[in-house]
Amino acid sequence: MADTITIIDDRTGKKVTVPITGGTFPSSALRELDPSLFMYDPAYQSTASCASAITYLDGDAGVLRYRGYPIEQLAEKSTFLEVAYLLLKGELPTAEQYAQWTWDVTHHTYVHENMRKRFVDGFHYDAHPMGMFVSATAALGTFYDDAKDIFDKSSFDKQVMRLVAKVPTIAAMCQRFSQGLPFVLPNNSLSYSENFLNMMFRVGDDYKIDPVLSRAMDVLFILHADHEQNCGTTTMRVVSSAQTDPYTATAAAAAALYGPLHGGANEAVVRMLTEIGSIDNVPGFIEEIKNGSDLLWGFGHRVYKNFDPRATIIKKTAYEVFDVTGRNPLLDVALKLEEVALNDDYFRSRRLYPNVDFYSGLIYQALGFSVDVFTVLFAIPRTVGWLAHMQELLGDREQKLSRPRQLYVGVEERNFVPIADRK
Ligand code: CMC
Repeated sequence: MADTITIIDDRTGKKVTVPITGGTFPSSALRELDPSLFMYDPAYQSTASCASAITYLDGDAGVLRYRGYPIEQLAEKSTFLEVAYLLLKGELPTAEQYAQWTWDVTHHTYVHENMRKRFVDGFHYDAHPMGMFVSATAALGTFYDDAKDIFDKSSFDKQVMRLVAKVPTIAAMCQRFSQGLPFVLPNNSLSYSENFLNMMFRVGDDYKIDPVLSRAMDVLFILHADHEQNCGTTTMRVVSSAQTDPYTATAAAAAALYGPLHGGANEAVVRMLTEIGSIDNVPGFIEEIKNGSDLLWGFGHRVYKNFDPRATIIKKTAYEVFDVTGRNPLLDVALKLEEVALNDDYFRSRRLYPNVDFYSGLIYQALGFSVDVFTVLFAIPRTVGWLAHMQELLGDREQKLSRPRQLYVGVEERNFVPIADRK
């Protein structure tokens, strides 16, 4: 059987045959039939907008791979900085490359003093950390006059390294500002995750980083590093297609991530579990959800329709963390909620399962993070994925300025009415 598809325009009888490649066919085929014909696809549910070699995802089988490596193996055997290198460069680093990359990132963690003094300090005392993160990331780019040299490879690589190195510092600055605590400077003797925890939590000299907790942080960073064409990554690509600098594009992608349907779900889950309060309230809560009161936060996914492999790893990580920190009392509510939902026809028939955000918030809370900083914890590692996609887009000769078409449903042409004559 030929790997082609034939489309017939019944209005004219014209037909066009085009190849099917990797489950896609070029939508430009429609315009061969009629140059004014476009596909109408709200939310891009049936549209592949790019070719990408970064992340493979099979939603039915629950498969996720970065550059071909299964997420389970990376979460077990790798480090976040190694995974970051893999996503950005396409291959795992050699020992020498890894040492250089780690040194480079570790030695670019400082941000300009004015970032804190003039910028972060200017926020209102109760500003949401994610709003601060979005703004501060865009502001960071204004400190580098080479930020816009995106087609100079060495300059682009430098901006990527700066962003990977500095987003944890910005995140920590935002959190410490929210808490009224003095900023803790980066410590070059610590690993990426240890340094982040240290900047977040050190008060005085008595903060000891537990290796189980810093490893859990690293695993969470690995799991969140990329996830192909989700809302934030698509935003990154759309903004980058206008040749915007990587700092501003990252801020735009982070803005998309902020929303509760996307990365903001981790915050919404813990607020929901807190509101439910006890396992006795779970069945009643589920009935309310089924009656349309709200969404079951942390459930459902556009692509995963059986299980989210990241959720499976996160659940295991949660138990390792609780062995050190003590069990998060909301865990029992979460487990009961999962059990009731998975046995309920409403959720089964719609193929709604726990996603990455269902258990991650419980770990973040056990680690000591406040609820409103959870989405920032997602944005730090996802910065790597966003930048890998920006880099891929800039080198893709098939890509152009993103500019979808629309189906106009407004009124037809009419004549202007002077205000005195309007009813
Ligand atoms: N709770 C209750 N009902 C749901 C949920 C949910 N969490 N998710 C989907 N549904 C229902 C939805 O109302 C619809 O029902 P009906 O057919 O009766 O109209 C049906 O399931 C199909 O939903 P959909 O909205 O067409 O599915 P989608 O692919 O557009 O939505 C989603 C995916 C993630 C936006 C959605 O499942 C959702 O809103 N989940 C809660 C928010 C959440 O946890 N987001 C994190 C996603 S994973 C992290 C990330 O990548 O950002």
